[in-house]
Amino acid sequence: MEQFFIVGGNKLNGEVQIDSAKNSLLPIMACSILIEGQVRIERVVGYSDVFAMIDILENLGSKVYWEKDDLIIDNSSLSSNEVPNELASPLRSSIFCLGPILARLGSVKIAYPGGCDIGLRPIDLHLSGARNLGAKVVEKNGYIYARKEKMQAKDIALSFASVGATENLMMLATCIEGETRIINCAKEPEIVDLANFINKAGGRVCGAGTDVVSIQGGKKLHSLSFRPITDRIEAGTFLIAGAMTGGEIVVKGANPQQNQELLSKLIKSACKIKCENDTIILTRNGKLKSFGEIETGVYPAFPTDLQSQMTALSSISDGYSLIIENIFESRNKHIGQLKKMGADLISRNGIVIAKGQKHLFGADVSAGDLRGGASLVLAGLVAQGYTTIDNICYIDRGYKNIEEKFTALGGDIKRVKVEKEINNQCM
Ligand code: UD1
Repeated sequence: MEQFFIVGGNKLNGEVQIDSAKNSLLPIMACSILIEGQVRIERVVGYSDVFAMIDILENLGSKVYWEKDDLIIDNSSLSSNEVPNELASPLRSSIFCLGPILARLGSVKIAYPGGCDIGLRPIDLHLSGARNLGAKVVEKNGYIYARKEKMQAKDIALSFASVGATENLMMLATCIEGETRIINCAKEPEIVDLANFINKAGGRVCGAGTDVVSIQGGKKLHSLSFRPITDRIEAGTFLIAGAMTGGEIVVKGANPQQNQELLSKLIKSACKIKCENDTIILTRNGKLKSFGEIETGVYPAFPTDLQSQMTALSSISDGYSLIIENIFESRNKHIGQLKKMGADLISRNGIVIAKGQKHLFGADVSAGDLRGGASLVLAGLVAQGYTTIDNICYIDRGYKNIEEKFTALGGDIKRVKVEKEINNQCM
């Protein structure tokens, strides 16, 4: 088993380069299924979820290999339409294969997705959307069986602007002649990136980034090379780390527009922010102050994926802070762990009230999900004494070698192998 061992208290200083966005890479990898040919995805990062998606693709018959940092996926001939439970359950993004397999092969058998346990995470909108477009969808014994019947382009209104459902339906709609419109769709930058990928492959998707995305289906997609956007959540995590530890952090490869909400809260917390093209420079002006309130919501509101890290920040910011989680009902596994480190947090029904403390203290803690795990790393970096974090496989889902990046900035953090049996919940 691996753990992080962190000695807190070092100021972070220097430059950090942001990697490609996990939440763009995974749907784009699934989308490659639509293309009878070779897809080159540039600058692919070896997140553990990326390797899990490669396993799914190879099981379908894809040939997948690396050329330096580029991932080549050749889906010229697929031999299976099935995503078995052992491949689907390690990650949430396995569900992105439903739309593309159905579109390309006409039928699919796919197990329910897994991923971080941060709430119920239903997939009803993915399934009702597919049904609406004319697929027959049956749920039986832990599997979803879907088959193309009379597929018809039409308007689909989502009851919630789900990122995953928008992406799945966009991909499914590419195989249906005519115009499908997804109304009340998600507007996240990763949706725009997927639309750009489909368009570069010869498809026609308009309106991505607005409330209505329109897909003109029936166009044959061709081989392409594509570079996904960078990870706004990784950028945000490093900015919050800079705010918490002090020093000057230069975050390269970040798009300031995509982190507007975060930047305004960091400015409230007494940080100075300077943006130059794709670089964000953060310095702290004296003592951290409360950012007041954050409330998570669909883009462009405050991202749920940065909520846990902001909770870590609030626990050492002078004054009271309020954090309201509106997207995932149980995104709270980090709260008890932060309290073990001295944070004064009251948490009920997705609302956290934080009373900022002068210091956190090192403790033995355990990650319960990806972003909550990242919040413990941040807390460890500022805590007095040393912190150990178990279950870091959660953190590896969405950060590649986070410890190396923090070490390069001056943090004292090591990945260590430990003998003890850990109740390891991530697969
Ligand atoms: C994606 C991101 C995840 C991020 C989330 C919200 C990827 C790989 N993951 O997850 O990092 O935290 O967006 O920004 O891109 N819902 C339903 N029915 C559905 C689908 C969703 O009720 O069929 C609800 C969920 O329970 C949740 C909300 O919609 O409350 C948001 O989920 P969704 O936007 O679909 O998130 P994911 O695509 O799972």
